[in-house]
Amino acid sequence: MTQTTPIADRLPLLRRLGIRTPIIQAPMAGVSTPALAAAVTNAGGLGSLGVGAMDAEAARKAIRETRALTSGPFNVNVFCHAPAVADAAREQAWLAYLAPRFAEFGATPPAALREIYRSYVTDDAMHAMLLEERPAVVSFHFGLPDAGRIRALRDAGIVLLASATSLDEARAIEAAGIDAIVAQGIEAGGHRGVFDPSAVDEGLGTFALVRMLATQTRLPVIAAGGIMDGAGIAAALALGAHAAQLGTAFIACPETVADGPYREALLQARKRPTVLTRAISGRHARGLANRFTELGAAAGAPATPDYPTAYDAGKALHAAAKARGSADFAAQWAGQAVPLARALPAAELVAALASELAASARGLGELAETLG
Ligand SMILES: Cc1cc2nc3c(=O)[nH]c(=O)nc-3n(C[C@H](O)[C@H](O)[C@H](O)COP(=O)(O)O)c2cc1C
Repeated sequence: MTQTTPIADRLPLLRRLGIRTPIIQAPMAGVSTPALAAAVTNAGGLGSLGVGAMDAEAARKAIRETRALTSGPFNVNVFCHAPAVADAAREQAWLAYLAPRFAEFGATPPAALREIYRSYVTDDAMHAMLLEERPAVVSFHFGLPDAGRIRALRDAGIVLLASATSLDEARAIEAAGIDAIVAQGIEAGGHRGVFDPSAVDEGLGTFALVRMLATQTRLPVIAAGGIMDGAGIAAALALGAHAAQLGTAFIACPETVADGPYREALLQARKRPTVLTRAISGRHARGLANRFTELGAAAGAPATPDYPTAYDAGKALHAAAKARGSADFAAQWAGQAVPLARALPAAELVAALASELAASARGLGELAETLG
């Protein structure tokens, strides 16, 4: 009998994360739930909670609900964007631009916009809560917190992950003492994790980014963006990743809080392409094209307010439309490979992904033998 190497010897990040299969369910603010995270963890992957849009007490409740459903490790994801800078003129111009769309649904835009959630970089209550609750893993999106916060989380025994969309961001993550890098390609659904939204974005694809980070940094890499099945995970591992982080693949699971029109749109995604837009939230994010993304791309569209201030307007417009039965202005985040989405319970999806991965790996083994 051939001796096989335990998977955690080949992919040591799995031992660090305490998981059996190299599958991470992406944190998805507004979509992922304790039930989803627990189901993925119980199936051998790493479940994640996206608490970026929550305050500390709501996040604590979500962590405790997850703990009631699993004794395994899970990831808690926070946003580390530079806090929004108020700009009344820009905000009023944006509201004036959206006003006819509000009127279409018998509503008026809000008089002013608010920064609807705080960045973890200034949220002391969130930081204190994480140190008290001590989830096994914490991940950062849109940048990094300061060295003091990173040291405190590490000293509490928490494994730290951070998203990078470029080699420079990955180097900053490595220098900051983070444990692993989530390499997020341009294919990815949801917000791009770019640190500085005003800098040039090369828009690197998952293939190019994963390979660059796997060879040019010393940290384990987690591939994210456009991965929907075991063949995609196998490809990421072949490029040198230790695990894959999948978001869009999990949205249609019954454990998420995606609403009916979002689920339907996902499963009929061949009808609509995905596009990157900053019109909905103020930062680039990939979702299914709709009237909101068209509005953002239209000639003469004014500049969006800062993230997440623009999201205040975006959510208000969606609520006005939804109240009249329209999903035309929804944030339906999805990655480029959304036509491969499946509506399976999360445990079944993880089992399917793991068996597809094994089949793809066997296929690669056979290919290797053929190549001699
Ligand atoms: C609906 C949705 C919400 C997301 N929310 C977050 C989030 O809160 N935090 C985060 O780090 N990434 C978030 N992401 C990005 C994912 O971490 C990941 O990069 C992406 O899902 C990978 O691409 P895929 O969707 O093609 O699998 C989100 C993605 C989606 C689809």
